[in-house]
Parts: sequence; C-alpha cells; structure tokens
Amino acid sequence: SRLFSQCSGFCLVVCVSVPCFLSVCLVSPDNHVFRGETVTLRCDIQGEGDTGWTNSWYKNNYSIYPYNTYNPYMISSVTQYYSGTYTCSGYRGRDSQSSEISNAVTLTVSGELGL
Ligand SMILES: *[C@@H]1O[C@H](CO)[C@@H](O)[C@H](O)[C@H]1NC(C)=O
Repeated sequence: SRLFSQCSGFCLVVCVSVPCFLSVCLVSPDNHVFRGETVTLRCDIQGEGDTGWTNSWYKNNYSIYPYNTYNPYMISSVTQYYSGTYTCSGYRGRDSQSSEISNAVTLTVSGELGL
C-alpha cells in the first residue's frame, strides 16, 4: 500500500504510478518501487505555484546525468540503476537566488511488478 507523508520548505515529492501533486508523497512505507513503474519527481516550494525556479536534481548528492531541469521529472520505467537518495534545489534567475536543498527521498528499486 501507499503512504502519504508531508514535507515542508523546498519540497521534493515522489509519486509512483500516479500524477504528482504538491506536498503529497506517494511511496510505499519503505520507499520501495518496482522495476518498470513510472516514478515522477516534483520539486516546489510548498504552497507556492510556479515562482520562476529552475530546478536541479541530485542522486546521492551528485547532479543527475544527463543533466536536466524538468519539473516534474518523470522516469517512465525505473530500473535498479535508479535506486538512491534524491534531492532537488532551485535557482531563480531574476534575483539570483539559490534555494535550500530539499528533503531527501530514498528509493529502492527492485523486483518486477506482478512477479
Ligand atoms: C549527502 O549530503 C548530506 C548533507 O551533507 C549528507 O548528510 C548525506 O550523508 C550525503 N549523502 C550521500 C549519499 O553522500
């Protein structure tokens, strides 16, 4: 089953096989994800809409390669390679502001759905 949990501030939410809504994390209790599921990462300041942030994504504290600034960032079929601890941050060009680093979400990808 899936758990709802909250985050605050610069907020990374991870949604598995469902659309991603602000400040709601949909992950299983141990953040377990099955190989082949669709995982969507979304990074926003909780309670704010689009305020002009350009996002960066990190896995285990390193920029995700290939670098992208998609938000939400959808991984359409995860593999074990995507296991790791994810964070995000934002940069706002109009006032050169860098955000804090978001909460961290650890994903464990294994097995295969239905097996
Ligand atoms: C990432 O950085 C944070 C803060 O410095 C640290 O606590 C954490 O252990 C680091 N994670 C990894 C996987 O290196």
